[in-house]
Amino acid sequence: MLYIRRLQRLSKLISSASSSNCRCYSDTQRFASVKEKLKQGPGLKDFITESSQSVITDRPFIPYLLENDRIKTKRRVFFDVYGCQMNLNDTDIVWSILKKEGFEKTEVEEEADIFLVMTCAIREGAETKIWHRLDHLRGFKRRAKDRSVKIGILGCMAERLKEKLIEKEKAVDVVAGPDSYRDLPRLLALTENGQQAVNVLLSLDETYADVVPVRLNQDSVSAFISIMRGCDNMCTYCIVPFTRGRERSRPVSSIVDEVRQLADQGVKEVTLLGQNVNSYRDVTQTTEKFDTHLAKGFKTVYKTKKGGMRFADLLDKVSSVDPEMRIRFTAAHPKDFPEEVLQIISERPNICKLLHLPAQSGSSAVLERMRRGYTREAYLQLVHEVKTTIPGVGLSTDMICGFCGETEEEFEETLSLMEMVDYNIAFLFPYSMREKTTAYRRYKDDVPDHIKKERHNRMLEVYRRKCQQLNEAEIGNTHLVLVEGIAKKSGNILGRNELYLRVVFEQTDVLAEDGGLRPVKPGDYVAVKIVGARSATLRGVPLYHTSLCDFYREKQWGERC
Ligand code: SAH
Ligand code: SF4
Ligand code: F3S
Repeated sequence: MLYIRRLQRLSKLISSASSSNCRCYSDTQRFASVKEKLKQGPGLKDFITESSQSVITDRPFIPYLLENDRIKTKRRVFFDVYGCQMNLNDTDIVWSILKKEGFEKTEVEEEADIFLVMTCAIREGAETKIWHRLDHLRGFKRRAKDRSVKIGILGCMAERLKEKLIEKEKAVDVVAGPDSYRDLPRLLALTENGQQAVNVLLSLDETYADVVPVRLNQDSVSAFISIMRGCDNMCTYCIVPFTRGRERSRPVSSIVDEVRQLADQGVKEVTLLGQNVNSYRDVTQTTEKFDTHLAKGFKTVYKTKKGGMRFADLLDKVSSVDPEMRIRFTAAHPKDFPEEVLQIISERPNICKLLHLPAQSGSSAVLERMRRGYTREAYLQLVHEVKTTIPGVGLSTDMICGFCGETEEEFEETLSLMEMVDYNIAFLFPYSMREKTTAYRRYKDDVPDHIKKERHNRMLEVYRRKCQQLNEAEIGNTHLVLVEGIAKKSGNILGRNELYLRVVFEQTDVLAEDGGLRPVKPGDYVAVKIVGARSATLRGVPLYHTSLCDFYREKQWGERC
């Protein structure tokens, strides 16, 4: 018990410093040997060093683990990824950390020694999927008689449920939150002795800036880069600030280096990720520049950051690495939207002219209850500014229906906003109450499920109808398509246009720069004439191979170079 008490005491001390929670579990028979290790192991100062450490050496800090305790056998890891793009990028970070420690990766369940499930907690449905997956893995673990199979739960659901996850699902061996992935080799090593290990420590400064993610899908022509972690916005419905902690930005230099490495690997498109990219700040850099905020009527729950490099500066640097690389970013919280960001998007051909401006609701009263910091009018004003500054810009959004107290009239305002704005892409969700959030404490989840479902369907209907119209209007136009792959069933070529819409065309040799014909492969840019449209896909005819620069030069000057 001494071990647990000491850890709990240490954990409490750390939590008071950085709202953390870190515990390890072991059965009583193993306490003696662990106590012995504790004597040789680190003291409190080592924990504090770890939590505030910003420069990480090649050899990761692994408390309680002596050289002899490191895993010696090659362990094969199977990754399961749920949730948003941040989880995809985090999985690449985890894989980078484990690969360095000698772990191997497998895509075959039967070969796996360790299952790592990267989880999401955004809605109840997201967690239900993961519980089903865990049912399957529990059975798998029981049947694997020839070896000991371990299950690790990572990500947002791990952070939300903490040790309760292990209490509820005994088959789980490791629980690791989004800021404790450096600790995974140690946590996994602890499980070798049959222990269960939990680290859900949230950090104020962890950005994994020095970890070069190793992409699970090396063949993909696109990649994600997290430029910041956490969120300080505290929208009343949202669990993310509780699962991902406080907002912090990664230094510009490490982001630019990663973009350069990806460009060298042949990656043609990167998406910069953050919960609110407008508040990106690299405070290690000084700049005299300030953001000019566009529309009136926006407020923020936390102090706007001053000084440091802003998102507009980052976009400038990232888009200059390789003019042939498409740059996307998400999500841009509508509040505090700076003019400088719009300016640089309109100037750089390789920054995609698609803005994700999540509205969440079209009703000012609902937006107030959601604590979004803007009204319907301010949002519409921003949309107007965006459309006038960047001609031809596409917009995408997230919308929630059935939030606490949402009346039929308030919901209809969401529908009318969708009618007015012309979204090219929308992610539409029925509200799901999450524990710990302000809405959970302050409001009642009083819209019945069948009404949420009905409103969700009505949103989907408006969205699909509008998309169909927008897409049909593209028939006859020529789009620049980045080829992603070949459809397994039809053999057709699949790619995306600048607005991230899927474009499909038949596989055929296409006119090349030298006047000859050559086949199309992933990573190619092809000018495609749109000949058919559905709500989510465009059909086209390939015209000629091109480059990003040539395509937009021709578009601007009306002739081929
Ligand atoms: N930071 C991003 C979004 C992150 S979460 C932003 O501010 O836009 C992705 C989306 O999930 C949110 O935009 C919201 O539409 C949805 N969402 C978040 N919490 C939800 C909840 N409790 N119920 C339903 N949808 C939710
Ligand atoms: Fe959640 Fe709001 Fe933060 Fe987006 S901005 S992650 S919706 S709290
Ligand atoms: Fe993403 Fe889900 Fe976490 S949406 S940030 S993985 S709660």
